[in-house]
Order: sequence, then structure tokens, then C-alpha cells
Amino acid sequence: MHRSMGACGRAALWWWAALALAHARELDPAACSARFDVQRDKIIRTEESREMGARYLSELDVGARHECLRLCCETDSCDVFVYEEKSPGSCYLFNCGPPEDFRCKFTAHGNFSSGVMALSRRLAELQDQERLANHERELATLR
Ligand SMILES: *[C@@H]1O[C@H](CO)[C@@H](O)[C@H](O)[C@H]1NC(C)=O
Repeated sequence: MHRSMGACGRAALWWWAALALAHARELDPAACSARFDVQRDKIIRTEESREMGARYLSELDVGARHECLRLCCETDSCDVFVYEEKSPGSCYLFNCGPPEDFRCKFTAHGNFSSGVMALSRRLAELQDQERLANHERELATLR
């Protein structure tokens, strides 16, 4: 026997879908920063990387490396950031693709840091959505 979903159920489902969509673009901040492998003294090889298929997304001046990382987390499809180590410093955002199909190359440079997301952005977003779904289930069990 099955009964149709009530208005409450539909509202909850809609709410969950809206949350999942919002989070698909902006990764959970704490989880996102933990996913970066940050290398001091590294700069991207811009031309080689772009020839390999990397996409330059944007540049912004920020006050610190962690702000550059956060900017990357908040930027759709960003999975690599390059920060010029001064304050303010230039923060360059790139899409280099998932680890199994990585399109960027780096080289040593004392005044730059590079951060690479250790997990594909797509997988990271799926994990975030899964975690949200778990929270919702846990909450619902209280009823
Ligand atoms: C790093 O920056 C300092 C100060 O701007 C500069 O003197 C130095 O030459 C730079 N290092 C490199 C490797 O470019």
C-alpha cells in the first residue's frame, strides 16, 4: 500500500532540493578548505596549463591566502587558486579539472602559493549534498 505524499512532504522535498541546489554552487566552507592541498613557493605555468585545457576564471586582490582559498570555494568550477604572497596580493582562480584528468602545471616561485582541490569539484558537491540529505534524515527521525 502506498499513500501519496502530503503537502508537508512536498514542501520538505522542495526545501531539500532548494538547499541542495544552493550548495551545489557554493561548497560547504569548512569542508571545502580542508580539501585543498596548498603548496608554498609554487606558481602556475599559465600558458602550458591553458594549452592543456585549464580555464582561467578570474583575478581579485585579497588580503591573505585563506581569503583566496575561500574565494575559490565560493566560485563555481574553481578548483585551483594561485596567490601572490603579499598583502594585498593577487588571487587568481582556475579550473584545472579533476585529479584524474588534471590540466595544470606548476613551477617553483618564492612569492606565490598554489592550492589544488584534492577531490573533483563534482564529487565534492555530491558529498555535500549527501551530507545534507543525512542531516535531513536525522532531523526527520525525531518526529
Ligand atoms: C619576491 O618579492 C620580493 C619583494 O617584492 C622581491 O624582491 C623578490 O625578488 C621576489 N622573488 C622572486 C623569486 O621573484
